[in-house]
Amino acid sequence: MPALVLLGAQWGDEGKGKATDLLGGSVDYVVRYQGGNNAGHTVVVGDQKYALHLLPSGILSPGCTPVIGNGVVVDPAVLLSELSGLQERGVDTSKLLLSGNAHLITPYHTTVDKVTERFLGKRKIGTTGRGIGPTYADKINRVGIRVQDLFDESILRQKVEAALDFKNQMLVKLYNRRAIAADQVLEELLGYADELRGFVADTTLILNNAIDEGKVVLFEGGQGTLLDVDHGTYPFVTSSNPTAGGACTGAGVGPTKISRVIGILKAYTTRVGAGPFPTELFDEDGEALRRIGGERGVTTGRDRRCGWFDAVIARYATRVNGLTDFFLTKLDVLTGWEQIPVCVAYEIDGKRVEELPYNQTDFHHAKPVYEMLPGWSEDISKAKTFSDLPKNAQRYVKALEEMSGAPISAIGVGPGRTETIEINSFL
Ligand code: GDP
Ligand code: IMO
Ligand code: MG
Repeated sequence: MPALVLLGAQWGDEGKGKATDLLGGSVDYVVRYQGGNNAGHTVVVGDQKYALHLLPSGILSPGCTPVIGNGVVVDPAVLLSELSGLQERGVDTSKLLLSGNAHLITPYHTTVDKVTERFLGKRKIGTTGRGIGPTYADKINRVGIRVQDLFDESILRQKVEAALDFKNQMLVKLYNRRAIAADQVLEELLGYADELRGFVADTTLILNNAIDEGKVVLFEGGQGTLLDVDHGTYPFVTSSNPTAGGACTGAGVGPTKISRVIGILKAYTTRVGAGPFPTELFDEDGEALRRIGGERGVTTGRDRRCGWFDAVIARYATRVNGLTDFFLTKLDVLTGWEQIPVCVAYEIDGKRVEELPYNQTDFHHAKPVYEMLPGWSEDISKAKTFSDLPKNAQRYVKALEEMSGAPISAIGVGPGRTETIEINSFL
């Protein structure tokens, strides 16, 4: 079982950090393949809580090598401060590997992200403001700056000046902002070079060799399936591919090497930022999910929008990712409801629809069709096996599994590493 992908099956914040950390002790490499510090992955180890943004959650497992792949966008200031924050807490960060082909988020990318959102006004995406979209846009436009450019001052200067020629026209003439000086950006970027040099490696070669030698490699997705720029709720998405295929392009590993794809699935649904969300709740149930589930963004501190479980989305995630398993998280949060609604299909313009509509306007009009499942009131946070769960909690999990199209191989009953029911081994 050499290579596994672990990814979000909904709109992010499903509990990927916890799931990655749980497997981290048994894997050799944990690799981030897309996104950047828009992610916020929480790991709880004993009484210690960690919020990871750019570093793979495997960095907390001593035997595991953390890798930032070519598909990630890297804000060097954030990377260095995250590393020093972990070092201060006694975490060994020396094994980190960073792809020289990963693109850099520079100060002008974060500026453009923020001014674009302001310019969009009511039509804004609700981005994290971390410069993600503008950095990926530059990558696709072939005017991006890569990690390897930090080590060649004259190339770096040419690239920064070329990028700013255009960006400054836009900032000054369109957005009425001050121009950004190339010298200032260069000085800042060059200041990171020495500290980063030791981490930079040919990560594609290392990972392929590791897989060929039978080492276990885990690819940790950021964001989630419905935030994917190709398969998500475009334009209300992030600018990368969190779906399973993204692990191949974002790490330079062929699809034939990937043996398992695990979808992290929350027992209800949340979303941060703008965009359609059929099962969203605006009543006290939504408020209760937010309160009990602690649904507040790890990166931006924004309240997450909350709603019931949506099986149409789960089925879609199974399809576009080729999921082999689900890890169902936060089942404990649903304790106490007499009945729990689950969305089994949508009604769109009077018609019942079982699959996620590819048409954006249809999805905006989708109304959830609910089935009621009986709830439970017993505390489940100490459950260690499936049979420890109350009968109605077992029924809820089985119903979700049948609707979602892949086996549920683990269940989260609390934020801690040990608060997990393992049904099938992932390794
Ligand atoms: P990620 O971005 O997918 O890693 O998820 P986040 O860390 O943004 O949000 C998930 C939140 O749920 C974190 O606060 C986790 O500590 C917490 N969490 C994860 N799994 C469980 C679980 O099974 N039960 C409960 N109650 N909390 C969980
Ligand atoms: P993790 O990895 C939830 C959302 C933002 C916004 C949209 C685009 O913790 O699950 P961006 O800054 O990426 O251009 O914003 O995507 N978003 C997330 N929502 N969890 C995340 O990461 C997210 N990363 C980005 O709120 O709607
Ligand atoms: Mg998160």
